[in-house]
Amino acid sequence: MISRDIIVAPSILAANFARLADEIHRVERAGADWIHCDIMDGHFVDNISFGPEIVSIVRKQTKLPLDVHLMIQRADHFVSRFAKAGADSVTVHVEREANHDVAKTLHGIRDAGCRPGLSLNPATPFAAVEPFLDEIDALLVMTVHPGFGGQTFRPEMMDKVKRAVHWKESHARQIDIEVDGGINAEMAKLSIENGANVLIAGTSIFHAENYSEAIQNLRGI
Ligand code: DX5
Ligand code: ZN
Repeated sequence: MISRDIIVAPSILAANFARLADEIHRVERAGADWIHCDIMDGHFVDNISFGPEIVSIVRKQTKLPLDVHLMIQRADHFVSRFAKAGADSVTVHVEREANHDVAKTLHGIRDAGCRPGLSLNPATPFAAVEPFLDEIDALLVMTVHPGFGGQTFRPEMMDKVKRAVHWKESHARQIDIEVDGGINAEMAKLSIENGANVLIAGTSIFHAENYSEAIQNLRGI
């Protein structure tokens, strides 16, 4: 796959929130394709990040698509608020602990005018997402246990990426295959080789000196 087919989505979880607007402008200038917003509720994951209000502030700072990743329980209850805040895509979790009717939430996301995505944790088998693949525009494979930035990428998750590629090819469907967590240049290369086309990265971009260099390194150019 050639590098321009790769979408780079910086996760603002790793940005400096004291100057969030500037951070967004900087990654946009540096060639980011989407802005990834990690929403955590302190229940589904052991951390709390931010909600729809911050997403609407981000929306006002950029024209880039906003990719909202809900690591929360009862995502269905919040979909319309994130859609109103300006989300272009909304990704929810398949695990039982997310406590919602996954198929219904995915339909709700599409009805709200957003692209539905589904995510699975490292401990969750690929089989858990299979019943929903027809309904989604993106599969987000967590390559770390969700909750915190700056963790180490788990290469064994590439198995799920390969299964997603196989499903996509045998069903002739155009879904994005995203990897999220611990993505640096080396892990980006591995993910792309295995068939991922969306790279979500926090630390390797926002903790770099030069954001455009960091984004180009992820694309492998
Ligand atoms: C993990 C989040 C990720 C992650 C990315 O809970 O979903 O988006 O923070 O950040 P890095 O690149 O720092 O692992
Ligand atoms: Zn994320």
